[in-house]
Amino acid sequence: AAAEKGGYDHFMLKEIMEQPNAIKSTIEPRIQNGEVVLDDFSLTDEDLRQINKIMITACGSAFYAGSVGKYVMEELCRIPVEADLASELRYRNPLVDEHTLLVVVSQSGETADTIAAMKECKARGARILAIVNVVGSTIAKLADHVIYTWAGPEIAVATTKGYTTQVAVLDMLAVYLARRLGKLDDQRNKELVEAILQFPSLIQRAIDLNPNLPALAQKYHGHNDMFFIGRNVDYAASMEGSLKLKEISYLHSEAYAAGELKHGTIALIEKDRPVIALACYEALFDKMMSNIKEVKARGAQVLAVVLEGNRQIFAEADDVIFVPRTEALFNSLPEIVPLQLFAYYVARANGCDIDKPKNLAKSVTVE
Ligand code: G6P
Repeated sequence: AAAEKGGYDHFMLKEIMEQPNAIKSTIEPRIQNGEVVLDDFSLTDEDLRQINKIMITACGSAFYAGSVGKYVMEELCRIPVEADLASELRYRNPLVDEHTLLVVVSQSGETADTIAAMKECKARGARILAIVNVVGSTIAKLADHVIYTWAGPEIAVATTKGYTTQVAVLDMLAVYLARRLGKLDDQRNKELVEAILQFPSLIQRAIDLNPNLPALAQKYHGHNDMFFIGRNVDYAASMEGSLKLKEISYLHSEAYAAGELKHGTIALIEKDRPVIALACYEALFDKMMSNIKEVKARGAQVLAVVLEGNRQIFAEADDVIFVPRTEALFNSLPEIVPLQLFAYYVARANGCDIDKPKNLAKSVTVE
């Protein structure tokens, strides 16, 4: 069993460390001559003109990957993008038709609610693009187009490389569609493609920059409630960071859009309450600093997640996690990696069964 885990104590840690390679396998074949090329997604110009809305659907972490995709795609493509939970979408008589591109995200390709949502939208005429890890799975078979994530088999119940390869594909899809829609000039396209090519080393650096995560986990693991806050792509990443912690450490945690704090959550901030503040998205850094001050004023302990080199944060934060710089819209990718490790070490400190958390299944094939 130790050999299967490649010398690591858990599959989860092995899979976290495999992320630079998993992402490399996922992106490299799809960048050719400075352009994102998605051979598996054969859209004619006429097909493309037909699309007036993109809808992303999934469950669990795949939904949170989709939530990152919503921000990135809408910003770059300038068409409306919605992300909706499959279990909600399927039962809500959705406004979906032949002008909708439905992007279905699933590691296993077998999640029952995701399959049902996909069938519902297919029946209404939507074009279906699936982002799937397991080759030949049900979702891959039912979709009009499939872009595989090449993460390799994922054994730990809590997804890590499955999620980050999904985010990498969604980032690439955004650039690809934006380019085809004429929304990216050569220069901007070049910058984004170069940033994508850096993803494997970016992820490695996100791991290497944070050797203090086991110590941080020792400091924070005894708390019963934590809050994650962020804005824009930081908010999308915070939802996955919070889910990781819940899944494997059984700590209660909640992710909030930082601007929503004052509409309720702030009532729960008291002395020593941990708040994990994701503040990598620089355009909104000042807004995040205000939120950090608000929670600090109520006694919270702030663990801030900021870009490498940020010194301003030391004025407020109790502890800092550093994330290497990339294109602002792609921040959530390096940002999630130390949060996966944080959840891992917290669960470890609490003696949890990390690879097989109680009550959870790797793939939920019942409704
Ligand atoms: C389960 C897993 C999650 C996963 C979700 C969706 O709940 O425990 O890690 O995100 O299903 O699975 P899928 O295979 O569709 O990505």
